[in-house]
Amino acid sequence: MITQKCIDEIKLAARIEEVVGDFVQLKKSGASYKGMCPFHNDHDPSLHVTPRLGIYHCFVCGASGDAIKFLRENQQMSYTEALRYLAEKYHIEVEEEKRELTPEQEAAKSEREALLKVNEYAEKFFIDQLFNTEEGQNIGMTYLRDKRGFRPETIKKFKLGYCPDSWETFSTQATNDGYNPEYLITLGLCRRSEKTGRLFDFYKGRVIFPILNTIGSTIGFGGRVMSSDVKGPKYYNSPENPIYHKSDVLYGFYQAKRAMRTQNNVYLVEGYTDVISMSEAGVENVVASSGTALTEGQIKLVKSQTDNITVLYDGDRAGIKASLRGINMLVAAGLHVKAVLLPDGEDPDSFAKGHRDSELYDYLTQNAVSVIQFKVDVLMQDAGDDPLKRAEAVKDIIATIAEVRDEIERAFYVKECAELLHLSEESVNVSLRQAVWKRINTRPADLPHPEQPQPQTLPNLSPVVEVPHPQSPTVDPIQNVELDVVRLLLKYGMLETNVETEAENGTRKVKSVRIDQYVFNEFSQDEILFENPLYQRFYKEYARLAQEKPTQEELLQAFAHHEDSEIQELAIPILSEEEPPFSEAWLKRFDVDTRKPDTDIENLNQALTGCINLYKLRLIEKQKKLLTKELEEKHTEKEEREIMERLVQLNEMYRKLGELQRAVIVP
Ligand code: GTP
Ligand code: MN
Repeated sequence: MITQKCIDEIKLAARIEEVVGDFVQLKKSGASYKGMCPFHNDHDPSLHVTPRLGIYHCFVCGASGDAIKFLRENQQMSYTEALRYLAEKYHIEVEEEKRELTPEQEAAKSEREALLKVNEYAEKFFIDQLFNTEEGQNIGMTYLRDKRGFRPETIKKFKLGYCPDSWETFSTQATNDGYNPEYLITLGLCRRSEKTGRLFDFYKGRVIFPILNTIGSTIGFGGRVMSSDVKGPKYYNSPENPIYHKSDVLYGFYQAKRAMRTQNNVYLVEGYTDVISMSEAGVENVVASSGTALTEGQIKLVKSQTDNITVLYDGDRAGIKASLRGINMLVAAGLHVKAVLLPDGEDPDSFAKGHRDSELYDYLTQNAVSVIQFKVDVLMQDAGDDPLKRAEAVKDIIATIAEVRDEIERAFYVKECAELLHLSEESVNVSLRQAVWKRINTRPADLPHPEQPQPQTLPNLSPVVEVPHPQSPTVDPIQNVELDVVRLLLKYGMLETNVETEAENGTRKVKSVRIDQYVFNEFSQDEILFENPLYQRFYKEYARLAQEKPTQEELLQAFAHHEDSEIQELAIPILSEEEPPFSEAWLKRFDVDTRKPDTDIENLNQALTGCINLYKLRLIEKQKKLLTKELEEKHTEKEEREIMERLVQLNEMYRKLGELQRAVIVP
């Protein structure tokens, strides 16, 4: 552990333009720098680097952060690696702090460290055997190169190796080099013969596929036989052990990370050779689940890099139906799921082998279909003309739509599903509503579901699915208003502004207040201000930091380097907006003549409007709550209808207000 004092020192010394400049060509442009963004396929320089705040931000893909984040995201460094790298760059001596661990923790930690060391040793041994021995070349390399068609670069990238076809070569060398036999056994590299008590090599005569964790350390191995007449399984794999938990590992993840982010998608395949062949054919954003459906741990890994996943299915339809089961889990995790069916008789490995250059990529992009379309194709073909089976299939498909978390995405699937199955959208919606209820009511309570809809007291007022206008923005209008308030606080929070207030006797007065104070006052009755939980978190942090920091500049610095990376990511794009939010001249202008048409004033006006709209929204919410409560009491039919009508009106106002943004209010 590096001491906090040292971390602060490193952060202070790091100059963003130098750190980014080591990897991206930057050109000075005013007070900031511009360069080609390395996080997407950039055509014009859209990465902006702002030395004043120590941050970078891409206006196209939205990548943003500080020096440390840049190293982590762009160079795949861990947090500590990034710190050490910067310390070296700026000649700062790293100060370590001994963290107190319990004796058990010490032991477990040192066991894990020792096991990693053993794997590192084994991996080196296998690679050396493959490249530098006659047997490795004649047998292992010949197989990988000629049978599988892997180039040397690819073999190196995946750190493939070879274990000689003798019982003890590895075991003997490892023990001679001082490695603990118990560790060798724990890791599954060696076994002990019951008869002689001697160690023998588990992977004897196999090519070796190392399995890496997220930071590139080898935590396990797969070994494949090379001749078809060997008895026993084609692949051997490491057993579960303190450093290898199969369900938390995706094969190929470490090598695919960067491409997953730049392509904003990942292809999911079955195993080792699928991953390697596809990478060889130029599709590098590919990982394997090792056979089964993805686990929660593996989904987390995917989600750390991208929200889009494309599942590849072998071209034999027999196996597909069974493997469809895992798909709902992906959808439920909030991933956007697509599927590709490979041609008859092909698996990703064989297909990639025959389609190098851009052919594979083209095939995948041209043949990826939505998860709904894919399920319709597969299940309907399977059901044939059997009406019962077809009804079952429809249910199955709707159950998948019910797992979709994003309302707009769900609406599109309803449309797609209705079209493909020749049903009315209304009837799909009816079944969907049932399926959503079923999902909510049968899901074990301990599974966290971030956006689980609240049971609706008035289901007829807010349909589960509302098909949006095709051009409507995908951002919720209410959250748009909320974002305006976030921007208002961040950019202008500490400024004074003139606000008109109405006294009790009806006269109007102009008062000067600090903008953040104004926002706090307006909203002080409510515990919850923002619908969006991230904005709510930001608001709390703002309230805390605004007291600590004496100037807006220091407040901005605190957000630019905030330890909550989501808050940091929220703040940086706002902080990087073209004009620096505060210049002396700006302040002067603002004080002298607030009516002067000027973008700053306009921004401020707009943000204040947002704030007031949000305030009104909250008032409407309150009224809605009151009315809803009133509905629970006994009423005549007429009264009830009146309340309902009023609620519908309020809902309408609520929506309109969310969309209304640009009226200028403060003169
Ligand atoms: P052939 O097609 O017979 O040449 O063998 P293969 O090595 O290609 O394996 P196979 O086609 O039977 O397996 C399909 C995919 O699963 C391939 O990518 C294999 O590398 C992979 N695979 C097989 N067993 C395992 C395993 O235990 N773990 C992992 N991760 N992948 C496996
Ligand atoms: Mn195969």
